[in-house]
Amino acid sequence: MVSDIKSTRNAVVTGTAGIALAVARRLVSDGFFVILCGNDPEQNAAARSSLGDQHAQVVELDVSDADAVERFAADLGHRLDGLDALVNCAAIQPYGTIETTTPADWQKVVGINLTGYYLMSHFLYPLLKSRGNASVVNFASVQGHLNQNNVLGYATTKGAIHAFTRAMAVDCAKDGVRVNSVSPGSIRTPLLEFAARSLTPEGGNLEDTIKEFGKSHSIGRVGTTEEVAALVSYLVGPESGFCIGGDFPIDGGLRAKLNV
Ligand SMILES: NC(=O)c1ccc[n+]([C@@H]2O[C@H](COP(=O)([O-])OP(=O)(O)OC[C@H]3O[C@@H](n4cnc5c(N)ncnc54)[C@H](O)[C@@H]3O)[C@@H](O)[C@H]2O)c1
Repeated sequence: MVSDIKSTRNAVVTGTAGIALAVARRLVSDGFFVILCGNDPEQNAAARSSLGDQHAQVVELDVSDADAVERFAADLGHRLDGLDALVNCAAIQPYGTIETTTPADWQKVVGINLTGYYLMSHFLYPLLKSRGNASVVNFASVQGHLNQNNVLGYATTKGAIHAFTRAMAVDCAKDGVRVNSVSPGSIRTPLLEFAARSLTPEGGNLEDTIKEFGKSHSIGRVGTTEEVAALVSYLVGPESGFCIGGDFPIDGGLRAKLNV
């Protein structure tokens, strides 16, 4: 349930940790009221205490649950006369190949990383459209362009987000709803730490693994959530008015570098 909102500019952000939390912080400082949605009670509570309740609200929501997303959008519709920004950020990164990814694993990653973006965009679209000037930012990944081994489901969903973004963008431009994606390289978040932990040998050091991740980027380090939030701030702001259907890399030169 979303409580009364009095701000003139409102944004919905999915996910309540990592990049989503930094985006929420940045949008609050840009003057938005931000509604964060997440399905992890501990992360939700931490986000609530870090953001306070003056300019942000954290709502329990599983973005892959169609009925719950529809109810959330209807509830928001009673409280807002329009939505200025939707940032689809919530995702999971399971590991697996074509041999090891089970049908249940596949359904889960597609359900959150792809269907979740569709459900949020579909059910919130009337609120976005009613503004006549709104912005959707979809989090893809460098792994939607080229990928590591053992990320079949994740890479598939991230590549699909590029196409989803383009397709949505060309339809929605006439309604004044701009849609773009961002494709980060390695950004230090709980998701990156999870990935690094699984690649750190027994007795090894997590920080060393993260430093190794950084070396494959031209800049020689992983990125920060604040750097990504600044790009989102631009994409939801008025200065990006001519950006439609684009994919914006933020990867420290990872894709520009030939690792040979
Ligand atoms: N961190 C990176 O290096 C990196 C790189 C490329 C792309 N990305 C993308 O950026 C986005 C954010 O990544 P992050 O690193 O902050 O991830 P994270 O794991 O730190 O945070 C993801 C958030 O999504 C939430 N979430 C997961 N499933 C959900 C569901 N069903 N319903 C609602 N919320 C759910 C999690 O609880 C968490 O709060 C993701 O789309 C990710 O694929 C991240």
